[in-house]
Amino acid sequence: MSTEATVEKIVSLCKRRGFVFQSSEIYGGIGGFWDYGPLGVELKNNIKRAWWKAVVQERDDMVGLDAAIVMNPTVWKASGHLDTFADPMVDCKECKRRFRADELAHHVPASAHGHAAEAPVVRCPECGGELTEPRMFNLMFKTYVGPVEDDASVAYLRPETAQGMFVNFSNVLQTMRRKLPFGMAQIGKAFRNEITPGNFIFRDREFEQMEIEYFVKPGTDEEWHQHWVEERHRWYLNLGLSPERLRVRRLDREELAHYAKDTYEVEYLFPMGWSELEGIANRTDFDLGRHAEFSGRVLEYFDEETGEHVVPYVIEPSSGVDRLFMAFLMDSYDEEEVRGETRAILRLHKDLAPTKVAVLPLSRNEQLVPPAREVWALLRPHWMTQFDDAQSIGRRYRRQDEVGTPYCVTIDFDTLTDQAVTIRERDSMEQVRVPIANLVAALREKLEPA
Ligand code: GAP
Repeated sequence: MSTEATVEKIVSLCKRRGFVFQSSEIYGGIGGFWDYGPLGVELKNNIKRAWWKAVVQERDDMVGLDAAIVMNPTVWKASGHLDTFADPMVDCKECKRRFRADELAHHVPASAHGHAAEAPVVRCPECGGELTEPRMFNLMFKTYVGPVEDDASVAYLRPETAQGMFVNFSNVLQTMRRKLPFGMAQIGKAFRNEITPGNFIFRDREFEQMEIEYFVKPGTDEEWHQHWVEERHRWYLNLGLSPERLRVRRLDREELAHYAKDTYEVEYLFPMGWSELEGIANRTDFDLGRHAEFSGRVLEYFDEETGEHVVPYVIEPSSGVDRLFMAFLMDSYDEEEVRGETRAILRLHKDLAPTKVAVLPLSRNEQLVPPAREVWALLRPHWMTQFDDAQSIGRRYRRQDEVGTPYCVTIDFDTLTDQAVTIRERDSMEQVRVPIANLVAALREKLEPA
């Protein structure tokens, strides 16, 4: 990330250029919910595609799943979410604002730090007013299934996609004839009624997760945990995140979730500080054990080599698409001086760029637009493209730089005689002339090198 990237600039770029809009904006919005615009949905899809390729397509030990968002409510009793998935909440008695008590620890006045024996008095960070005692607040969204709104019809929107994979353990094991170790991957929406959503799309109430549940023989879990930490760290680096803004941190014991024996986080240095992109937890046999207990089903693996039945241990790499979206945008944003002007640029990895190629006739001249449209039609079956003929060519290059388009193809008056076009590269701004007959092959070499 360049020093120029601030959350304000990224929010403004996202709105101005169609990446992210506030949900239901015309009605004043709704906190913690966001809509992804035409370029945002492309970037999001590209992040998900890159993840799926790395963790399902290219591996011989992984399969995919797409489970329902609403599950039998006993799932959440068994998983521990009904009892423990809660944050402490406090209200300001003066201004009535609401806060997460654990986050307010960061707002302790400087003089209160360093006096471990005295419990610091935390006051409202907005108005300095007195706060209520903390109350636990369950983060799961409640709904009712069917026409009657009574206790028997209560259900929840899933707060993580993970449980869909645990409850399908036997189905997948049997239908796919898997041996340990093997894993499932799932991408899907999750919902948490966060007390304080914020930092743009970093903490939302509706978000998308990309999760893996990787089932291993007990005793091999620590080795596989290390494997996944390394794999996942490398994935971010391969997609261009700055190594100095990415770190892997092992959580302290008191930070662990109720199901975890050990957890590493992949963290990114956002303007608000080091923050979690992905958690990689050793969930042991906690979930399969609990679901076996609550469902009465046997959730075990028969090891043919030893003749033993085992409850597999689980390694869970779990990331959030929206957080990765924000990290990739912040990290790739740059500004540089070009001929006395500031050029804003997203140096996104080619695989992530929402538009791969922009087709630009030099001007709206009636001789240039028809061949430019023909070139556009030639490229559309292969990549996400844009056609732009409004304003000067310089401005159009800047517009594409700002949304991370790796290549612009320009049609000029020479094209009418030499049947060639210019490919201009985003980062270096270098230009090469290529015959239209070779254009698809030339772009493929650049966008999808073997
Ligand atoms: N199944 C494990 C699990 O859900 P988590 O650490 O609570 O673990 C995993 O969430 C990932 O989901 C996080 O690393 C983050 O990327 C994403 N995530 C969690 N809560 C989020 C929220 N409120 N808004 C956006 N992303 C969130």
